[in-house]
Amino acid sequence: PMPERFKVRLPIPETAKPVKDGHYAFTQRPRKVEIIPGTKTEIWGYDGQFPGPTLDLRRGEPVTVTVANKLDVPTSTHLHGGVTAADSDGFPTDLVVPKGHGGHFKPGRHSHMKHDPSAWKLHTGQRDYGYSLDQPAATLWYHDHRMDFTAPQVWRGLAGFCIVRDDVDDALPLPKGERDIPLMLCDRAFHADGAFKYPSKDGTLMGEPGVSDEYHEGVLGDVMLVNGAPWPVLDVDAARYRLRFLNASNARRYELALDNDAPLVHIGSDVGLLDKPRELSSLVLASAERAEVIVDFSKYKPGTEITLVNKLGADDMAEVMRFRVGDKVDDDSSIPDELVPFKALKASDAVTERTFKFEYSSVSGHGSMWTINGEAYDPGGSMAKIKLGTVEKWTLISDVHHPVHAHLGHFQVLSRDGKPPRDTDAGWKDTVDMRPLEVVEVLIKFEGYKGRYMLHCHNLEHEDMAMMANFDVV
Ligand code: C2O
Ligand code: CU
Repeated sequence: PMPERFKVRLPIPETAKPVKDGHYAFTQRPRKVEIIPGTKTEIWGYDGQFPGPTLDLRRGEPVTVTVANKLDVPTSTHLHGGVTAADSDGFPTDLVVPKGHGGHFKPGRHSHMKHDPSAWKLHTGQRDYGYSLDQPAATLWYHDHRMDFTAPQVWRGLAGFCIVRDDVDDALPLPKGERDIPLMLCDRAFHADGAFKYPSKDGTLMGEPGVSDEYHEGVLGDVMLVNGAPWPVLDVDAARYRLRFLNASNARRYELALDNDAPLVHIGSDVGLLDKPRELSSLVLASAERAEVIVDFSKYKPGTEITLVNKLGADDMAEVMRFRVGDKVDDDSSIPDELVPFKALKASDAVTERTFKFEYSSVSGHGSMWTINGEAYDPGGSMAKIKLGTVEKWTLISDVHHPVHAHLGHFQVLSRDGKPPRDTDAGWKDTVDMRPLEVVEVLIKFEGYKGRYMLHCHNLEHEDMAMMANFDVV
């Protein structure tokens, strides 16, 4: 049965507590939770939670996160948007294999990609990831990144927020504390008994990767979850709120708006605050993108209900969650005219230009696949050598919708089809929403670390179907 809308209260993921200074520990394990009222769903969660506990961290204070894997499948954890050393970046073939259960795991055995044994690195039971956090305040997230099986493993719940804070953000008069709310949006489908429904070719996720052909474009659900709850409701004070939207869906795009046409004041993009706030009537968010907005509920009478809608969704999926306004309260927050200093990159800053074409094309010996520059992912290969500390201009070309994401490098969108970028491209980004048959130019800056990183489509089914490529920062 479909859950009734706007009945379940919005859960706020708990904040991860360090086990000691600068050290966090997560155990990935299954747990049965009530998502659809009256049924139980087995999730796979960091600490058995979906969303996982929020890492609430500070710029310039590096942390170690130990991830222990108590699932029946290998995992890899990527801090999305993080400027992270390559060996902690959650490379798809750099895996934590569960103790005991993982005995039947053979790297690359069923991978439809090239098999280079030297590209695989296996840790037994657990491993440490180091995050240096030498980057501005932003809404990042962590999620599974296992070769061939990212999509079904994230679908089961392996994703959580990582909020980076800094003095600049703290000093702004933006809403804080209980009025600073992370919202993880994802759609899911369920069997009648409450189990997650995902069309894997092999449900054990140890055999053949991929989904059946009709899900080629990506897997969509028919239940809208926010922070793991179906169409939830949040009781808000009549005050300003900072909402941190994350599209953690496998394949769904959103155009978010409020049903009373109140503006969303855009203040932050994927990897940081904007230079100044911008009023938007709606906000497009492709898989993996983040947008921070301020919504002012102070002008409404107690009891007012405001629904967050998705203009790209039909029927049930046209609604996301609801806000129910309470009493007027003291609110000393405000939206400053200036947020953070921002230096726009210029095309002339780029030392190298590259083109990456994201398309469905035939790969010899494999038939048609999702490819980058005509190639299926090769874990041992590399498409580019990039000089650390430089800016490059990348021209991205799409056939259908592809949310294109780069690890390590953060970028600014320079143009779309030769025209200026759209509103929600503002600021520093790590993912860009490519629309069908579009040419998007970005200026991407590589700082922090040398090593092997990747770019890929963040439609998780496309990603699992080989739409990834490595590059080396040298
Ligand atoms: Cu959010 Cu390589 O991914
Ligand atoms: Cu794609």
